Amino acid sequence: MDTLTLFSPAKVNLFLRVTAKRPDGFHELSSLFQTLSLGDTLEMSLAQQEALTCDEATLPLDERNLVIKALRLFRLKSHIPSNFKVHLNKKIPMQAGLGGGSSNAATVLWGCNQLTGGCFSDEVLQQWSSEIGSDIPFFFSQGTAYCQGRGEIVSALEKTAACLPLFASLPLWVAQPKSGLETKEVFRKLHFSKNLGAEIAQLDFERCLSHSWERFNDLETPAFELNPSLARLKSSLLEAGFDFVLMSGSGSSFLCYGSPSSASLFADFSDVRFFPVHFISRSSSNWYKENNFLKRM
Ligand code: C5P
Repeated sequence: MDTLTLFSPAKVNLFLRVTAKRPDGFHELSSLFQTLSLGDTLEMSLAQQEALTCDEATLPLDERNLVIKALRLFRLKSHIPSNFKVHLNKKIPMQAGLGGGSSNAATVLWGCNQLTGGCFSDEVLQQWSSEIGSDIPFFFSQGTAYCQGRGEIVSALEKTAACLPLFASLPLWVAQPKSGLETKEVFRKLHFSKNLGAEIAQLDFERCLSHSWERFNDLETPAFELNPSLARLKSSLLEAGFDFVLMSGSGSSFLCYGSPSSASLFADFSDVRFFPVHFISRSSSNWYKENNFLKRM
């Protein structure tokens, strides 16, 4: 059987509101997720034995890796006893709030299904995927979605580009500081004094659609408490000329929009990596492609 080569995109959160803490320890979110042209590449094929290899030496290749969890989930749920060989070319920074592991897991589930005859719909794969991570179901959308619950309740947006007019033609960057953050630690540091309620989440979403939304991420405060240099970095990026700088997910990377001179960026932020990015989307029958840029409506 042929090798399938699949692009596995990073995501950013264009807003992220934490609306409640649940008895099971998870938090209820309301967040607008978007896929990016920054991504990993996965090569997959059917094999005699399960095997995962990666060009990034620091990544664990055992059950801690979401790719392994996804391979086992597919076998368990589909009752198809096939094994797969996966090679992962890692480009998405880790512990960066960019959903790299979750994207890899979703991509692997999609790939397993393709390689075994495509018996299951994206909706079925999406439902299975929530068992192994909160951010994975999002990737079965078409690249822009409003996510609630733990993150696993995914509403696709038909008016996608209409709610993102600012971004259609402007330069976007992901800024990644050297130190990453553990998602669990960031949530643990969140001082949750009151339930903000679903109405507020809905209001945020409507503000977004009306083009005048405020950019916020409720996880910035706990992330900055855990690592105060992140707050300083955000201020410096704004001073450098970006129009806005917003932490993605539980950090530690930032989505930046605006046009400071690249020369000054590289000179002034020697310990930060900058990735130029675009928003991407996919059609329902295909997986993501690096250059399938989201179009302005
Ligand atoms: O689901 P996932 O494995 O990505 O979550 C990692 C950790 O982040 C969870 O164990 C939990 O502590 C925290 N989390 C949370 N609320 C969410 C998502 C994650 O508290 N909605």
